[in-house]
Amino acid sequence: MYTKLLQWFHKEGRALPWREDYSPYSVWVAETMLCQTQVERVIPRYLLWMQYFPDVFTLSKVPLEELLRVWEGLGYYTRPRYMHETAKELVKKFEGKFPEEYNALCKLPGVGRYTACAILSIAYNQPYPAIDGNAIRVFARILDLSLPVETKKAQTAIFDFGASLVQKGEARLVNQAIMDLGAMVCVPRKPRCVLCPVKEECFAFQRNTQCIRPVRRARTRETVEAVIVFYHRDGQVLVRKRPEKGFFGGLWEFPWQENASLDELIFKHGLSSGSVPEWVGEIDHGYCNRQVKARIFFIDVNGWPLSLGGYVWKHIDHLEQYPFSSFHRKAFRLFQKFIMGKRGMNT
Ligand code: ADE
Repeated sequence: MYTKLLQWFHKEGRALPWREDYSPYSVWVAETMLCQTQVERVIPRYLLWMQYFPDVFTLSKVPLEELLRVWEGLGYYTRPRYMHETAKELVKKFEGKFPEEYNALCKLPGVGRYTACAILSIAYNQPYPAIDGNAIRVFARILDLSLPVETKKAQTAIFDFGASLVQKGEARLVNQAIMDLGAMVCVPRKPRCVLCPVKEECFAFQRNTQCIRPVRRARTRETVEAVIVFYHRDGQVLVRKRPEKGFFGGLWEFPWQENASLDELIFKHGLSSGSVPEWVGEIDHGYCNRQVKARIFFIDVNGWPLSLGGYVWKHIDHLEQYPFSSFHRKAFRLFQKFIMGKRGMNT
């Protein structure tokens, strides 16, 4: 299996920007981004990141806000914060170099088992299996695991199988071959088994169970309703920066609330009478285990003495440079269309 995988990767493996130099820094940046999002979305963001922050030293010195801006849209905003911390720590304690040892890597902020294994194997070619979602699917099929992959037993079987493969030598190539096999051949629905270099060794292929592997525990998504209000005055809207610690820490947002009606929200903001909300639209946004359905409104408060604790007025045209969560950015995009329509009507 090992040889077939390497031959396949040599011929079919993808040429990706982070595969050009295999420096630990490139691997770390790419893998941290890839924990969140698919390769196609990561490529432009990775290139941009490398252009702005080409090495650990640069990254350690730039303001956090700049990192967040480049990261925006990739989700899980604690990751770029941890990256900033890690860069500073590497400069302070390791002369800017990534340690070549598992436990030392895992002590760096935000570096977990997966990222440590990916850095050790892909950058340093050490025999650690990098088990991400793709690898889980590929191995669950090769082993034809009927247990849900979240169970301890299945996790151990998958990890041990990955470990046995990388022990054979070229951990860098094996791990990436599995990633590419998972992305191009052993895909979630309709796996392309005819193209698979290891189908003879795949138990799911032999038993024709590949479409029902991997087995997963049922996951439920909570649905939440929310309201977002764009308070507007002279081309400006109210926004605030969230506290650094906690959910979406340090990102900017518009006045909003979950599980509240528009009336409740504007009452809370002290605008109970006389304000005329206009309908902007609705967005549906999924993150973590939640699906948020947000209704968006516009309220022109020209001439009103409105001030909300923690919120500041910012010009609409300047908001591109502030980091928002994808959820609020999505709301803002809709608002931009709305306001352009409004300006169009007024000219
Ligand atoms: N997914 C996670 N890590 C990856 C990598 N290094 N190359 C391609 N896809 C990946």
